[in-house]
Amino acid sequence: MIDQLAKLVENDLSVFSLNYFSVILGTSPSKGARSPLLWNKVYAREKKNVKMVPLDVRPENIKAVFELLESEPKCLGGAIAVPYKETIFKLIEDQLPENVKQIGAVNCFYRQIKGSKNKFTGTNTDGEAALDPIYNIINDRPITIAVLGFGGAGKAILSFLLKYSHKENSFYLFNRTRPSKINANIEFNLLNADNLGGKIPYVDLLINTTSVGSSLSKKQSPLPIELICKIKKSAIVYDIIYEPKYTELLERANKLGLKTINGLRMNIIQAVLAYGYTNDTDLSKEDILQIMSE
Ligand code: ATR
Repeated sequence: MIDQLAKLVENDLSVFSLNYFSVILGTSPSKGARSPLLWNKVYAREKKNVKMVPLDVRPENIKAVFELLESEPKCLGGAIAVPYKETIFKLIEDQLPENVKQIGAVNCFYRQIKGSKNKFTGTNTDGEAALDPIYNIINDRPITIAVLGFGGAGKAILSFLLKYSHKENSFYLFNRTRPSKINANIEFNLLNADNLGGKIPYVDLLINTTSVGSSLSKKQSPLPIELICKIKKSAIVYDIIYEPKYTELLERANKLGLKTINGLRMNIIQAVLAYGYTNDTDLSKEDILQIMSE
């Protein structure tokens, strides 16, 4: 099984000596994904002969790789990076709980019964984790929240915002393409300068969930630079990107004296939650966070 797997991934697989392993699936997670570093610190502390390994998978191989992992008793599950959150969702949709089905994307998959070979289910820890650094801001008083992007992370975050933030908050969603389905409490606008320019002055919290500004498109901003000065002085700009730590959007907002939050906290919290879902562990969430933060 592992031999077959090794032929379908682009990087070297080193899982032969392990009792169990978890994976991160993506097109090139071996080139800098943060989850293996975080998860492997916890495995080491638990003194387990288990490791998280990155699997660089080409789109044409992702289904076969996932099926091999499911039938490999040593595989516990793991994390899913861009662009496979929606692909894997479709492969395990019938195994998912209703609230995850509504998001349409998963970033974590795991055995339905831990420690045995059975079907994978999954969840999306992005939404829960993204709210962690803004929980007070979104619940203190009614505010206007603009979300840029409606990919896997954007959908997860909006679904959690609707459920766990002040019931009188207003929501603008901006995306490059029009979604086929959207909650009635959200006002949708295409992501362009005209639409943004009209709404930005009313926004109290701006959340970027698009990939614009990440290491693949550094120095780009999802909000045209000339519109950043239209944001209220009291507003908060939150970019869920963590690499680079300060995206072009955050750097410009910082220069204007706005309060900014980057994606580092969300990234570590989603890893804490995903580790807990995937692994049979006696550690509490606080313990896992502590170890991952060291
Ligand atoms: P993730 O799981 O991290 O959310 P994703 O599902 O690939 O990743 O979603 C990426 C988001 O960034 C989407 O909202 C995408 O817009 P589309 O739905 O129109 O594809 C957005 N995005 C990516 N590149 C973009 C660009 N150059 N300009 C604007 N939006 C972009």
